[in-house]
Amino acid sequence: MGDGLRHDLDALRKEAGLAVERAESLEALEEIRVRYLGRKGMLTRALRGMGGVPEADRPAIGRLANDTRDEIERLLGERRDGLGRMAMSKRLLEEAVDVTLPGIPARVGTKHVVQQVLEEIEDVFIGMGFEIEEGPEVETDYYNFIALNFPKDHPARDMQATFVVNPEIVLRTHTSPVQVRGMLKRKPRLPLRLIAPGRCYRRDPADATHSPVFTQVEGLAVDVGVSMGDLKGTLAEFARRMYGPMTRTRFRPSYFPFTEPSAEVDVSCTVCGGSGCGVCGGTGWLEILGSGMVHPHVLENGGYDPGKVTGFAFGMGVERIAMLKYGIDDIRLFHGGDLRFLRQF
Ligand code: PHE
Repeated sequence: MGDGLRHDLDALRKEAGLAVERAESLEALEEIRVRYLGRKGMLTRALRGMGGVPEADRPAIGRLANDTRDEIERLLGERRDGLGRMAMSKRLLEEAVDVTLPGIPARVGTKHVVQQVLEEIEDVFIGMGFEIEEGPEVETDYYNFIALNFPKDHPARDMQATFVVNPEIVLRTHTSPVQVRGMLKRKPRLPLRLIAPGRCYRRDPADATHSPVFTQVEGLAVDVGVSMGDLKGTLAEFARRMYGPMTRTRFRPSYFPFTEPSAEVDVSCTVCGGSGCGVCGGTGWLEILGSGMVHPHVLENGGYDPGKVTGFAFGMGVERIAMLKYGIDDIRLFHGGDLRFLRQF
């Protein structure tokens, strides 16, 4: 008598199994579960036929009904896992990042060539016992001129093409004001050896060799018995370290209000070695700096007694040193911001 029910349950299981196999989503699976196993589902409905089953067959049918439920649940679970795996691989495929693609490299900057050459110059002088000193770019007329022996109406001021802020304030035209500032800061320390790097400004029209903003390195040494020979030896050694051991130096008389005597210093041409070429205009020499023995008035303004100590000083243009080192023919390139130029260094 239970045979009909047995058959129904069997058919139910097969039908549910097929539906599960075809289900394409978790929602579809849930629908199937409700349809077959829900409170008002097909299984419950089929078991309504239990009433007609003989007492003796009921436990077996009951067990079969439970097995059918378990089996359908197992099939649902398997399919649910399968769909989950498929969804995951689909997502992985869609969201795949190709880690073998070359990245976009971040461009690393470089030190500006003027800064590089400045640091080279600093290294040479630090190696000779000089220390670094700094001063303001916006300077007083006193430190830029008066303390350096340029009285208010002195004609030597004309050479300095000054940006004047007001009668007492200027943009410094050279790093020489740091001579006096540095001495005042240290007096009466001996020996005193300092270099002062920094930006300077002059009201010059920009051309291949002039720029209204440029960089200088000042040097100052004060001690008992410092001589012109010390100046020559120091600068000759600097030139050899900077431009190679065969570099020669030449001192030509010159004039600065704050040094006496004064000299312009030339190095043997860095291109032709001294035989004469286009870069040195056939002379074999290139001018690199101004220098001299510190004027007694300047020592006094720095708080030192010119009767007891002497000193030498020099000042060089860093852009000029860099131009000679790398064969750069236009000073405007340094401050023009053209990366094609700057990236070469
Ligand atoms: N300050 C001078 C200039 O810029 C250079 C210099 C420095 C000369 C120190 C002598 C001594 O023209």
